[in-house]
Amino acid sequence: MAAETDERTNPAPLDDVREEAEGCTRCDLYKNATQTVFGEGGSEARVVFVGEQPGDKEDIEGRPFVGPAGRLFDTILEEAGIDRKKTYVTNAVKHFKFEPRGKRRIHSKPNAGEIRACRWWLDQELTAIRPDVAVALGATAARALVGKPVPVTKLRGTTVESAEGVPVFITVHPSSLLRIPDREARHAERARFAEEMRKVKKLM
Ligand code: URA
Repeated sequence: MAAETDERTNPAPLDDVREEAEGCTRCDLYKNATQTVFGEGGSEARVVFVGEQPGDKEDIEGRPFVGPAGRLFDTILEEAGIDRKKTYVTNAVKHFKFEPRGKRRIHSKPNAGEIRACRWWLDQELTAIRPDVAVALGATAARALVGKPVPVTKLRGTTVESAEGVPVFITVHPSSLLRIPDREARHAERARFAEEMRKVKKLM
């Protein structure tokens, strides 16, 4: 408890936390991943975007949201007038979880234990930054931020309170937009997500 109180009143600088996270063995995911993919951005960011976990490209490059979902995310942020460089972008889980299939590595969802273990880092990121709002991109991020399963479809577009008192804006994961086969439905969902990002801008 004392250490926890100290962490809140005197948070470790982000760079120190990032360095410490490089050697994370808090769950087994470090064993197969290339590296820890820590959050990116400065502690002065007013908004923290939280995704699920690094994908294949992120695992190789060591940076969050640089693959296909990240490119779509960047475009929509720009449309909403949000400069990604002034935000903090991270994931609920900091190692890539996958199943090997031939030469490919297929994304596999992190489980509740892995999400809980990785909250150690997410909590420290939020404590160091103290953003105006954290944006949960999908169910894994929402679960990590709120501390329990969140019905994303029902609460999408609204703000709820995190376990630590940070307002959490709930929305979907940008990769879900890429998976909608019907063109019209995909465009409608993209427009809805863009509208939500404009809402986020007003909360910063
Ligand atoms: N999906 C995520 O949730 N995070 C990333 O960094 C990339 C894709």
